[in-house]
Amino acid sequence: MEQPVREQLRLSLPDEAYAGDWETAMAELCATGEAIPMGWHAGQATFERMLAFARRMAEGRDLPPHMVQSTNYWLVRVPDNRLVAAACLRHRLNDRLLQRGGHIGYGVRPGERRRGYGTRMLALMLARCAALGIARALVTCDEGNAGSIGVIEKNGGELEDIRTGPDGLRLRRYWIDTAKSADNLAIGVPK
Ligand SMILES: CC(C)(COP(=O)(O)OP(=O)(O)OC[C@H]1O[C@@H](n2cnc3c(N)ncnc32)[C@H](O)[C@@H]1OP(=O)(O)O)[C@@H](O)C(=O)NCCC(=O)NCCS
Repeated sequence: MEQPVREQLRLSLPDEAYAGDWETAMAELCATGEAIPMGWHAGQATFERMLAFARRMAEGRDLPPHMVQSTNYWLVRVPDNRLVAAACLRHRLNDRLLQRGGHIGYGVRPGERRRGYGTRMLALMLARCAALGIARALVTCDEGNAGSIGVIEKNGGELEDIRTGPDGLRLRRYWIDTAKSADNLAIGVPK
């Protein structure tokens, strides 16, 4: 049962101050055996490499092929200064993201799920989209991902269609009017 998020929360850009907690969170995520959620940057072997890569992506510098400028955000629970969720906000769509991936990917730390953090994180990213001039954000998820469907629909996602990818997986594609994301921003947000 989801508990509404009432604690004080803060958005952070990836930052050295969280190196230790990031390592612990990554170990927890790896232990689940699931794909590492967006925003945590599992593709990079060390914290330092992850940080350098995240900063390069946020600045849109030397982008790898098929990747667009994107900013990662971490959701920090202020009382215990703990990372509880992460998200990746893509500043624009390319053909690939239009099919799968959309503007925003996100993931909640395993031990912190079902407490409303996923819903809150997406709401905050929608507010960031609005600030970037993205009026309608595309958010996609696998058809079997009940948690993500819940998060998207609680944020006003309107289902455009369900597409079958080359891998046979069925994917739900939602659009969200970012101006309607009223859930902004009683917490500190880095620019
Ligand atoms: C999907 C994910 C982000 C959900 O985060 P969360 O913090 O648990 O979500 P919330 O607590 O905000 O829940 C949102 C809604 O979905 C429901 N929900 C969450 N997890 C669920 C699950 N495993 N099964 C069924 N419903 C679920 C909640 O009950 C809630 O709806 P409700 O208010 O009607 O009860 C989290 O499970 C996760 O990180 N998964 C792995 C990464 C991932 O799938 N990312 C999304 C990629 S598109």
